[in-house]
Amino acid sequence: MTYLGLDLGTSSLKVILIDDSQNVLAEHVVAMTVTRPHEGWSEQDPNQWFEATGEAIKAIAAKADVSGVRGIGLSGHMHGATLIDASDKVLRPCMLWNDTRSSAEATALDNDPQFRDLSGNIVFAGFTAPKVAWVKINEPDIFAKIAKVLLPKDYLRLMLIGDHVSEMSDAAGTSWLDVAKRDWSDDLLAATDLDRSHMPRLVEGSESSGKLRDALALDWGLPKGVVVAGGGGDNAASAIGAGVVTRGDAFVSLGTSGVLFAASDAYQPDAASAVHTFCHAVPETWHQMGVILAATDAMQWLSRLTGQSAADLTGDLGDLQSPSRTLFLPYLGGERTPHNDTAIRGQFLHLDHATDAKEAARAVVEGVTFAFADCHAALKSTGTTIERALAMGGGAKSTYWLKAIATTLNIPLMVPKAGDFGAALGAARLAQMAVNGAGVEIATMPPIDKTVDPDITLQSAFSDTYARYLAAYATLKDL
Ligand code: XUL
Repeated sequence: MTYLGLDLGTSSLKVILIDDSQNVLAEHVVAMTVTRPHEGWSEQDPNQWFEATGEAIKAIAAKADVSGVRGIGLSGHMHGATLIDASDKVLRPCMLWNDTRSSAEATALDNDPQFRDLSGNIVFAGFTAPKVAWVKINEPDIFAKIAKVLLPKDYLRLMLIGDHVSEMSDAAGTSWLDVAKRDWSDDLLAATDLDRSHMPRLVEGSESSGKLRDALALDWGLPKGVVVAGGGGDNAASAIGAGVVTRGDAFVSLGTSGVLFAASDAYQPDAASAVHTFCHAVPETWHQMGVILAATDAMQWLSRLTGQSAADLTGDLGDLQSPSRTLFLPYLGGERTPHNDTAIRGQFLHLDHATDAKEAARAVVEGVTFAFADCHAALKSTGTTIERALAMGGGAKSTYWLKAIATTLNIPLMVPKAGDFGAALGAARLAQMAVNGAGVEIATMPPIDKTVDPDITLQSAFSDTYARYLAAYATLKDL
């Protein structure tokens, strides 16, 4: 038997095919586009997701035998608000996780104590509930037509199975889930003038959510009756792909966003720390994470500015050395952990005549590293300790970047062998579980290529520069 894992990312949609031994048999990636029509807005057209899915699955079918596919697992960027009417028509472009237009609505909901009490988290502007509150005020005609609010991968699921279903890990990022009970909260829904009828049915990530429509199976060359698993939000799915499921397991993800993720066997929220506490994608597990909004996105910004590719900018840095005097604060679109601030913006400091693109790239790498140090401190303040972590995401290809993070956080980082399958692999593993039951192996880490250890000779230099970074944040945050 084989299984497809689909990861709807912000910048690309990836599909992989695995067998029962979890070997990756084929993969295909389709680029995604984000539009930013106004400052702070970030949107995607949901039709793009479904078209890209068909393209990717057909491409996989051209490369490998898909007649044995029994399950599909879905992963996707979290928190997006996909609003659909009673005939399942999309009412407006999906507002994404890094869309910060609903800052005022988020603050208003966050001031209602039941949100932190029941959802376990600050109501961040990027979360789903404040976006819908923004639509109610600014686009009342659209609000009146909302029949369901779906997370991005769950809209894709609707296209695949014809039913409205979500799962716990992604639902936890809406601000409407009672994260301890793993159920929608009627009170939180009522506080945004919605009720359960606007929400999809909930399953666990490792359960079936329904079967692939026959017409799609025929069009894509798949057998009939393929199970579509609950799946997971991209971070929970990445964790399943990386075997990060038990307390003490952790990963650092250098994707468009940056995530420091720790698995947990208990629900231990600490909303005030700005650490996210969400359900994991398998039953009776939770996780905590610090989230920064621009990780490789900050390098992409520098790439656009300099006209050099991100790979060239980071590839040119050589061995880790004492940090640059130039400082970069990576808050290009606000920040979540630990600042919960949608208005703050990025900064370059200490520029001089000699500052060139390479120096700027070092400063960006180091600035994102210090943002991770902030997340690490926030996680520590909640009692979560991380002894070592897997390194994932596109930015993990830069050993310089990993060395800087390992040195600053003082934790070894383990880099998986070739193939950054992350969330797509996690989604495929969840599909395997939905088909075969809980016996499927998900606690194994991928084979490790190398471990990047902290450079103790550079630790005091990095800690001094981190202190400068914190001082820069303190003086510049109000500018
Ligand atoms: C997590 C978050 C991002 C997105 C995009 O809270 O907002 O990591 O899931 O990947």
